[in-house]
Amino acid sequence: MESYKKLLLANKAWVKEKLDVRSDYFERMAQEQTPEFLWIGCSDSRVPAGDITGTQPGEMFVHRNIANLVVHTDFNMLSVLQYAVDTLKVKHIIVCGHYGCGGIKNAVTHKNFGLLNKWLRHIKDIYRFHATDLERIPNSEERINRLVELNVIEQVYNLAETSIVQNAWQTECRPLLHGWVYDLKTGYLKDMLMLTPDSKIEDIYRFDFENVKAVKPAFLQYNGNSNE
Ligand code: CO
Repeated sequence: MESYKKLLLANKAWVKEKLDVRSDYFERMAQEQTPEFLWIGCSDSRVPAGDITGTQPGEMFVHRNIANLVVHTDFNMLSVLQYAVDTLKVKHIIVCGHYGCGGIKNAVTHKNFGLLNKWLRHIKDIYRFHATDLERIPNSEERINRLVELNVIEQVYNLAETSIVQNAWQTECRPLLHGWVYDLKTGYLKDMLMLTPDSKIEDIYRFDFENVKAVKPAFLQYNGNSNE
């Protein structure tokens, strides 16, 4: 049997399994989603967000890309983030990296991957920020593992530096931001850091929301009441 046909068969078995437990499982699932978590993880097939956290359909909103990056010009990630924070009102955002990450491993080589170079460039930058500490680690696997951890920490700060997260922190005192690393060899998650709404970030990245509200939209300046 061709491998893709197995997926369709497995789907039929999965539906039966769910319906055997609860006959209205899919009717309930179709109504709405109220996930408490946003997961930003690596696309790696060995790190399935739901399986390793024991979360069920409906419990976790998920975005995955190569090496779990939070890039401030990535409209895909930012759209997921905005929807999760502003509409779904998630309480936690988890950035999850993993040891043995191909994206991280390749970023520290001189290999030319064409378009992918642009994406891996963000990891090369993190290497440069921490080059002194990283180059003190003699074992190359340990050095790459440390870069995996530093990458997760950096991406959690990247989240805190978005206006989306800062606005929610100020107005609703959520979400908490978590940085985790998954160990492929043991299955365990390592909790690296957590940022809370009162965590300090570099001042240059802080947005001033009072001033933003005071700015009159351009269409009001053109058509609007002059008394406003
Ligand atoms: Co990876």
